[in-house]
Amino acid sequence: MDTNTAFRTEICPYGTAGIAKAAQLIAEGQCVAVPTETVYGLAADATNGEAVARIYAAKGRPSFNPLIVHLPDLESAERIAQFNDTARDLARRYWPGPLTLVLPLKPDSGIAGIVSAGLTTIALRVPAHPAMQDLLRASGKPLAAPSANASGTISPTRADHVARTLSGRIPLILDAGPTTVGLESTIIAVDGDKLRLLRPGPVDLALDLETGGKIEAPGQMESHYAPAKPLRLAATTAEADEFFIGFGAIAGDESLSPSGDLVEAAARLFDLLHTADLSDKPRIAVAPIPQNGLGAAIADRLHRAAA
Ligand code: TXA
Ligand code: MG
Repeated sequence: MDTNTAFRTEICPYGTAGIAKAAQLIAEGQCVAVPTETVYGLAADATNGEAVARIYAAKGRPSFNPLIVHLPDLESAERIAQFNDTARDLARRYWPGPLTLVLPLKPDSGIAGIVSAGLTTIALRVPAHPAMQDLLRASGKPLAAPSANASGTISPTRADHVARTLSGRIPLILDAGPTTVGLESTIIAVDGDKLRLLRPGPVDLALDLETGGKIEAPGQMESHYAPAKPLRLAATTAEADEFFIGFGAIAGDESLSPSGDLVEAAARLFDLLHTADLSDKPRIAVAPIPQNGLGAAIADRLHRAAA
């Protein structure tokens, strides 16, 4: 199985010592639970694909969804995504706070491919909670963080909610008492001067309807990334016209993980799909992946990519 199921979970009060410990774990590529003003998040270094894969391992999420990247301020957010005037205006108005903006990802952002699940857009948020702010500044890293609960359970607004489903699966929970907002951030996709409400939340953007931004009907998530080429799964050998993505004993043209490590494989999945898509071979084959732990999420994504 993966490496993330045997932790002694420490619950540490928010303070200087707790932040130092959390920042140390982030630097080591671990994920830690930390409060934001909305819900507790499970944070990892967004530039480290294996660290982000450990979020999925801890949550037991059966699929990869793009994650929100948390930043200390607008300036650091502008290093990761392209802001136009519409986006900058929203950011200035609502950050720090419970608003997430989906924007074009800068190619040189350094964000691991697993964070945006291969999309060319990225969800960014500058949170208002002092604990998350302190951790962002102490770690010096953009932090990817979904809600800190096991897959299929309710979002946590207190440290003991986190412990209820993630105890034993993560090393640290920073406890700063109950969150104030208690509802996940509003998500808006900015596309030129058009705004799309992807998830309703605490920030009511009715105001922005008056001030020029056009909000389209709520709903539709961005379509998931899929390679442009046909994809064949569970291949033990490849045809001459296939780019072969290997795993474990099957080397392929490039491997998700030569040692058969699912954390490493999850971290490399989207990068290798892009590599295969850009190669001169017209088709893609992928070696068999075990279906346990993170393997289920990898298989889910590959099946969707093959469909
Ligand atoms: O309040 C919050 O937003 C909390 C705290 C921890 O910050 N985080 C949170 O993350 O709710 P999560 O992973 O549960 O939700 C992220 C949402 C997902 O619905 C995902 O599909 C969407 O953001 N998302 C992320 N990147 C996207 C993208 N590039 N395009 C469209 N949707 C995106
Ligand atoms: Mg969630």
